[in-house]
Amino acid sequence: MNRASLILASLLVASGFLLVMRGRADERERGRERSRAASIESIMKTVHGKKGLMKSLEPMLNADNVKWDSVKAITGKILPLAQDLGKRKPDRGTKESWAELTAAYAGFAKELDEAAAKKNKADAKDAFDFLNNSCNKCHSRHKEKGERG
Ligand code: HEC
Repeated sequence: MNRASLILASLLVASGFLLVMRGRADERERGRERSRAASIESIMKTVHGKKGLMKSLEPMLNADNVKWDSVKAITGKILPLAQDLGKRKPDRGTKESWAELTAAYAGFAKELDEAAAKKNKADAKDAFDFLNNSCNKCHSRHKEKGERG
């Protein structure tokens, strides 16, 4: 091998190595992205389960004297979970529909959290109702069939 082809060969090896390393880094980043976002199932259980955040919020918002600090603590937990939903991939339905419905869902969660910050009972209840009535449209398109809801 002459000098020029030796240099060329080592350059090729080096760039191949860099490509492989870059690929691994991308893979790790995607893995982190997935594990950062809670799974759909755990988001649903935490936010909408029988002992979920929405269930505890309902009587608090209907109280005559709303304890806004406690309400805000809960809406502040719902918001990041709601915003995570769109990062997950449902088993069923189109990408476009999922993007649209999860954006609306995250939007209601944001309105709820902002209303709690402003101690605005009417707005908080409106946003709560929108969130609470969002279930069927999304489940009918994106949740595996066979279960109720
Ligand atoms: C933007 C879409 C979307 C909205 C809005 C939504 N869900 Fe879900 N939900 C899903 C999907 C998708 C699943 C299926 C998750 C899976 O099993 O992977 C699911 C599953 C569930 C589950 C089953 C969780 C488990 O144990 O497997 C419950 C309970 C649930 N949702 C309750 C609700 C309730 C109550 C509401 C409304 C107040 C609601 N969801 C609103 C998408 C949504």
